[in-house]
Amino acid sequence: MEIRQIAATERTDTMFPLQTYAFRPSPGADADRETYAQRMQYYRTAVSLIAEEGGRTLAGVGAFPMRQNVRDVVHDMAGVASVTTDPSARRRGFVRALVGRLLHEMHDRGCTVSALYPFRPSFYGRFGFVGLPRFRTATFAPEGLSGLLRADLPGEVERLAMREGFDDFDALTLRLLGERHGFSVFDEVRTAEFRESPARWVAIARVDGEVVGAVAYRIDDFGGDLVADDLLVTGPLGRALLLQFFARHVDQVARIVMKVGADDVPELWGTDLAVLTEGRVAFPNRGGPMARLLSMEALTGTATSATGAVTVEVADDEFIGGRYRLAGEGGRLIVEQCKDEPAATLTCSGISALAYGVLDPVEVVTRGFGQVDAAAIGPLTALFPRRMPYMFADF
Ligand SMILES: CC(C)(COP(=O)(O)OP(=O)(O)OC[C@H]1O[C@@H](n2cnc3c(N)ncnc32)[C@H](O)[C@@H]1OP(=O)(O)O)[C@@H](O)C(=O)NCCC(=O)NCCS
Repeated sequence: MEIRQIAATERTDTMFPLQTYAFRPSPGADADRETYAQRMQYYRTAVSLIAEEGGRTLAGVGAFPMRQNVRDVVHDMAGVASVTTDPSARRRGFVRALVGRLLHEMHDRGCTVSALYPFRPSFYGRFGFVGLPRFRTATFAPEGLSGLLRADLPGEVERLAMREGFDDFDALTLRLLGERHGFSVFDEVRTAEFRESPARWVAIARVDGEVVGAVAYRIDDFGGDLVADDLLVTGPLGRALLLQFFARHVDQVARIVMKVGADDVPELWGTDLAVLTEGRVAFPNRGGPMARLLSMEALTGTATSATGAVTVEVADDEFIGGRYRLAGEGGRLIVEQCKDEPAATLTCSGISALAYGVLDPVEVVTRGFGQVDAAAIGPLTALFPRRMPYMFADF
């Protein structure tokens, strides 16, 4: 078996047959191949690796160059996707070898974190990834927001076709990249596809001309559902403006179905708001994202109010294995390699869980991601308080 990096234009002949078989209803139409080939213009900056045997492509993986906010530091991120093996070649270690090679390639290109959506988290747990929360869905009738109809809010909402509102929408996502923990975005090449596809409305909330919120949505029918993507807001006023706009659909749609973050509390959006907030995780196609660190030093600058220091050892990881002194100083974390005795020994998943704010040190131990001395639990909790990430980008 040989591994080869290919250009985006080669993906249609090599990776498309694997991907369409793995992820799409099949056999598919010939037109699917054309559509895929057209879309490859948006994959020019993706890194694509294939495994070949006797001239046949048997497995493929890809990574998008992305960026992600981890506790207020924006990292270069490898967004791993397109992971597939032909059924005839499964369980022969092809994807294990490809993902290993891919992470090295992305690390060499400067990526300090990586994320993906797993078909089965335990598979990627072996590569040091740890689970992040999946988005929730809030479902409610617009009547529940009627209290907002009378609110005199200092701003306005404009509805546009996405291709018209895209520049404002995109600018807001870039602003949120700097402000929201876990938020991730594609590069410009990949992002360009979303201007046209899929077809959606976008509601843009402004206060004094400044964009304070945006939500992409579609309406499936008169009397049906208004299906909204992520509610992207810079604060409560942006949210109130967008919800007020949705409240005006009271005689048009029966329900609003909207993506929300794991720490959103929709029942507090209105006094009489009856709402179902659901988080459904299932495999292989409804997993929460996973993420891992590819650099410890890149955590320097991470926001923390702690002032203590802890030495940790990251065990058995080719990218971040080693001993580090983690210290909080002036609201920021400082990470340096050291030779001190560690007060905690963590796997990559363990330290990644702390950095991403999804587990606290006791949970890291109970989940089997390492050992932490009793005296280090307090300082580690202070350095990495729980803080739920919101990933946004879906790939
Ligand atoms: C998932 C898939 C990519 C795995 O590819 P593969 O080439 O068979 O994987 P590998 O042989 O490299 O397996 C690596 C390890 O994971 C294990 N593994 C493979 N499939 C697994 C599964 N479904 N669940 C748990 N472990 C699994 C293997 O046993 C192997 O363990 P080992 O290193 O201890 O021997 C392949 O089955 C596939 O294409 N599935 C359909 C598409 C899909 O789900 N893609 C993933 C999208 S995130």
